[in-house]
Amino acid sequence: MYSEKVMDHFQNPRNVGEIEDASGVGTVGNAKCGDIMRIFLDIDENGVVRDAKFKTFGCGAAVATSSMATEMVKGKTIKEALQVTNKAVMEALDGLPPVKVHCSLLAEEAIHAALWDYAEKNHIVIEGLEKPKNDISEGENEEEY
Ligand code: FES
Repeated sequence: MYSEKVMDHFQNPRNVGEIEDASGVGTVGNAKCGDIMRIFLDIDENGVVRDAKFKTFGCGAAVATSSMATEMVKGKTIKEALQVTNKAVMEALDGLPPVKVHCSLLAEEAIHAALWDYAEKNHIVIEGLEKPKNDISEGENEEEY
């Protein structure tokens, strides 16, 4: 049911942990499954993501997507990091079963939440970034699950 890449990132997740004094921290959850993901970003003075770490209290797919998402944003500019969508993360993982697609949304939203936090701390506006939800299941259609 899971690709080899998903299994690899689930069993050997990259970038687990916290960043002290992170430039931005984003926490999002999904009230429907109860899973929570927190992403820490270290962004340098040129707006490049120097490091990314995560803590995920959630299912295997959520762990695998946070692992892959943090790998993908490292070394990217803020603008490029915004392109790391749940779709891009899923493609990098060679796909997820349909019932697990929502797990990858947590990763995208957690990155956005961390960037939002960074923008607020630095009093800047990141073009194309909308205020992320704390709970991604808000306003979602039940049938998607
Ligand atoms: Fe909730 Fe995977 S089941 S994030």
